[in-house]
Amino acid sequence: SVSKDVQKMLEAHELLKKFYHHLLVNTKEGEHALDYLLGRGFTKEVIDRFEIGYSFDSWEFISKFLVKRGFNLEMMEKAGLLVKKNSADQYFDRFRNRIMFPIMDHQGMTIAFSGRVLAADDQPKYLNSPETKIFNKGKLLYNFHQARVHIRKNQQVILYEGFADVISSVRAGVEYSIATMGTSLTEEQAKIIRRNVSDIIICYDSDSAGIEATFRASKTLSLVGCKVKVALLPDGLDPDDYIKKYGTEKFKSDVIGASVTLMTFKMHYFRRGKSLQDEGEKLHYIENVIKELSLLESSVEQEMYLKQLSTEFDLSMEVLKEQLHRVSKTEK
Ligand code: UTP
Ligand code: MN
Ligand code: MN
Ligand code: MN
Ligand code: MN
Repeated sequence: SVSKDVQKMLEAHELLKKFYHHLLVNTKEGEHALDYLLGRGFTKEVIDRFEIGYSFDSWEFISKFLVKRGFNLEMMEKAGLLVKKNSADQYFDRFRNRIMFPIMDHQGMTIAFSGRVLAADDQPKYLNSPETKIFNKGKLLYNFHQARVHIRKNQQVILYEGFADVISSVRAGVEYSIATMGTSLTEEQAKIIRRNVSDIIICYDSDSAGIEATFRASKTLSLVGCKVKVALLPDGLDPDDYIKKYGTEKFKSDVIGASVTLMTFKMHYFRRGKSLQDEGEKLHYIENVIKELSLLESSVEQEMYLKQLSTEFDLSMEVLKEQLHRVSKTEK
């Protein structure tokens, strides 16, 4: 029956999570993987707490292990743990020679894995379990099961791009930290967040992909009623890099503590890569900002940002207000 299958799949994930962890921390073959993690600044405590593991460089180590434990290989393939050879009825291990991050659902059940390569240029960098009966990537928020109580207590959540960012953030003492799994934030994920909290800080990577993703995620989150702020990082760094480079205190004060309003982020976003010396680009920028301002509900906020524009571009408040009213009319 369906529920029997699901039960077996969950059982296999729980067992393998422990097994991969054992392979990382207690075996000779796992030593280089452990060294890699320690070298990156992961501590033994963090490795235990996030139950990080290692999959051996073998095609059949895990399939043999599963057979010995009485699991059905066809079902294990459906669970995403094994891969089937096209021709024969032969199965091999999906995850080989990778650092294994177990993925827990919001109740804490292990439902998937993400495996990171050790060598810098191997592809893909992270190999995720496929969608299965027990794993739906678009609904999953990494670390949500541990973070939820802290999110509720602090009435705040920080959304990251990657596992390593969440783990470093938790190490820095910021427990209300979650991440998507490399895809853009879905409406379902946004709704799950909103059911628990309204104040969210997006802290994605500072590369173009991260900035574009921040823009999209902020829209999705605003639509479900979240109050969004954005934590900005210096160019080229992600939160994990930043913490390693500057330490946890500076991260908390200068990144999280200095997070900006969504409007300020958008102003930063609209002028990225633009030369505001150029008249056309300058006009376009001002129009973009005013269009966004017309969507704000608070006139105090509108006035605040209009003042910024007025000062920066030496325009009178009357002209800016007139333009805002014009845009507001056409937007409605
Ligand atoms: P990043 O490329 O920013 O990786 O992708 P990262 O988290 O900084 O990883 P490290 O520090 O190099 O180990 C962000 C997230 O996107 C997903 C992963 O969830 C990753 O944490 N991702 C990335 C994938 O699913 N597959 C990939 O090949 C790469
Ligand atoms: Mn342990
Ligand atoms: Mn990234
Ligand atoms: Mn990153
Ligand atoms: Mn990183």
